[in-house]
Amino acid sequence: MKILVTGANGQLGRSLRERSVIQSTAPVIQSAAPVIQSEAKDLSFVFTDVTDAPGVQTVHLDITDAAAVRAMVAAEKVDVIVNCAAYTNVDAAEDNPEVAELLNATAVGILAEAMKEVGGLLVHISTDYVFGGEPYNTPCTEEQKGTPTGAYGLSKLHGEQAILASGVRYIIIRTGWLYSEYGKNFVKTMLRLTAERPQLSVVFDQVGTPTYAGDLAEAILRILDPSSPAAPQDDNYGSPASSCHPECPSCHPERSSCHPECPSCHPECPSCHPERSEGSIFNFSNEGVCSWYDFAKAIAEYAGHSGCEIRPCHSDEFPSKVHRPSYSVLDKTKIKNTFGLQIPYWTESLKKCIQNLNA
Ligand SMILES: NC(=O)c1ccc[n+]([C@@H]2O[C@H](COP(=O)([O-])OP(=O)(O)OC[C@H]3O[C@@H](n4cnc5c(N)ncnc54)[C@H](OP(=O)(O)O)[C@@H]3O)[C@@H](O)[C@H]2O)c1
Repeated sequence: MKILVTGANGQLGRSLRERSVIQSTAPVIQSAAPVIQSEAKDLSFVFTDVTDAPGVQTVHLDITDAAAVRAMVAAEKVDVIVNCAAYTNVDAAEDNPEVAELLNATAVGILAEAMKEVGGLLVHISTDYVFGGEPYNTPCTEEQKGTPTGAYGLSKLHGEQAILASGVRYIIIRTGWLYSEYGKNFVKTMLRLTAERPQLSVVFDQVGTPTYAGDLAEAILRILDPSSPAAPQDDNYGSPASSCHPECPSCHPERSSCHPECPSCHPECPSCHPERSEGSIFNFSNEGVCSWYDFAKAIAEYAGHSGCEIRPCHSDEFPSKVHRPSYSVLDKTKIKNTFGLQIPYWTESLKKCIQNLNA
């Protein structure tokens, strides 16, 4: 199975590379682009991005360029796209909503159309920030209606909708609080600040679950592994929702009739959307729950940075254009049951990442 990874030099893309590659030098088959054979059976990868990264091979692919995407899918006979490319700067998205929309929605539609044309599978990464506009204090399930609070979350929700509307075979994985050994992230920032400063304030009124990109990368490889219990080849990875959203007007005739775009309906509702794509939405994060304050305390502790006093504070002490969800815990029951995943507790993965950074 040929897998094209977009945004392969970002946090998740680099983590995927690291876990998929056993042979990173010569192409293993005749190909225009360097193809990497994985230790996972029968998987080969083309890693693409718009910029190079030191020490790794990168094929140039801009996902906003529909012709280039289609050409690469055809030339490489791509079976699966794993889309790790995105506009991920949540604050900057408020000033550049059209750029966020281009990358997180329009380009996702381009990838979906390209895979639809060849009957391939699109694995797309989305976010807990598609939620947050309505108060809730229990973990979000995949069925929960998207209520983004900012331009980034809205653009990511539009990306999901573009996939659903395209008719492509898809797996959407929503995740949150992503960190890794690569790029910029909260863990690396806290490691630096807790080493430099005697005191630090970190918000305790936003709660979620950190996600180690390495664990998400392993989950994606497990999903794509032909020997996994629910591999895409078996066509059982994405059975449409068996039960409907409680507000779905078709399944619940006491409700009003369905809006043309069915905003109140489960996006996978088989009754309202018989034409919709074959696919599924899944949640993924590490196990457990913490605030950013707890996260920062754990980072400092595992790094041995005892000289910095970390103080809990409220979000309004850090004025921001974006209103971030106060509770963005994801319910992972579906992905664990479907693919037989065992997900590490967040502190265990955090320790591993800090060890890697210190190695
Ligand atoms: N980071 C988080 O906390 C978080 C939380 C929830 C969900 N997610 C989602 O998880 C996924 C992976 O996030 P991440 O943190 O790994 O992202 P990332 O580190 O920002 O990586 C994104 C990659 O996409 C590349 N890119 C930018 N424009 C592109 C284009 N036009 N064509 C192709 N590639 C392009 C970026 O290159 P440049 O760096 O050169 O721009 C970068 O290498 C994203 O879908 C994100 O929305 C992230």
